[in-house]
Amino acid sequence: MVSYKELGLVNTREMFKKAVDGGYAIPAFNFNNMEQLQAIIQAAAETKSPVILQVSKGARNYANQTLLRYMAEGAVEYAKELGWENPQICLHLDHGDSFETCKSCVDLGFSSVMIDASSLPYEENIALTKKVVEYAHKYDVTVEAELGVLAGVEDEVSAAESHYTKPEEVIDFATRTGCDSLAISIGTSHGAYKFTPEQCTRDPKTGKLVPPPLAFDVLHEIEKKLPGFPIVLHGSSSVPQEYVDIINELGGKLPDAVGIPEEQLREASKSAVCKINIDSDSRLAMTAAIRKVFHDKPGEFDPRKYLGPARDEMKKLYIHKIVNVLGSNGKA
Ligand code: G3H
Ligand code: 13P
Ligand code: ZN
Repeated sequence: MVSYKELGLVNTREMFKKAVDGGYAIPAFNFNNMEQLQAIIQAAAETKSPVILQVSKGARNYANQTLLRYMAEGAVEYAKELGWENPQICLHLDHGDSFETCKSCVDLGFSSVMIDASSLPYEENIALTKKVVEYAHKYDVTVEAELGVLAGVEDEVSAAESHYTKPEEVIDFATRTGCDSLAISIGTSHGAYKFTPEQCTRDPKTGKLVPPPLAFDVLHEIEKKLPGFPIVLHGSSSVPQEYVDIINELGGKLPDAVGIPEEQLREASKSAVCKINIDSDSRLAMTAAIRKVFHDKPGEFDPRKYLGPARDEMKKLYIHKIVNVLGSNGKA
């Protein structure tokens, strides 16, 4: 049993309180490899932004949970080397799917876990979330829960249709589970295809897809029911068109990829939404940068020569999100 506190990590409690009070959101970036982690830490250190490092089931399968935990421990020391005196870094389990997975992460030194029982019936979601909360809180590890269903792929759980979170359930859910934050469904979804072309309109000038707006009315109702309670948005990549264009021009195939417009995320950040999850945008930045190197320099075969530019592009993206969208710069 290792406490995250010995590793220099922090849980989400203080981060979220300050974010809700201050009208900004904390970035939660997924990481699967060293380059992503370096880019996240460099961006957070340079902007002095608190940051949440997220580990999904896919990441655990790909890179190994223990190795990722040690990388996060290394990230705290790296952040200090970069001149960030008091790094505010949280190591979070993304979409934990069972009590055992959450427990293993708490025991390994994670400072925050998500139990995603949103696909279960309401009472079962409450029972499982409560069990995780009871265990995690013994070690001062914070717990994110989810109510409502996002469309798209949630790790290996996929849902064809979304169900918005029902505002009338949130008080009962938060009170009975004791969770520290709540992921809600208001129209975001995972991946690079958040809406079908049929769900969008087309900009007559550019021909590009314009997605339907998020359900801010549902968000505001939830805020009224749970004043000051930390709300989380999953599936919040904006799928930057410039990356999609580069990928498509240089041999890729991402037709009609569409995300959440940044303007809406900016607006959400000012509300009780205090954690915004971004993974797909980093994948797009990385893929665009690598495709560019392969296109411009076909003789290149040193991985550092394409993973390096990919890292730089991801760092640029993370800084942009922190400074221009979430507003968390200078808060740590
Ligand atoms: O929630 C979804 C995240 O983007 C993680 O996806 O399981 O493919 O790593 P992944
Ligand atoms: P995106 O696929 O929109 O980046 O969402 C990531 C996420 O919610 C991770 O939990
Ligand atoms: Zn998610």
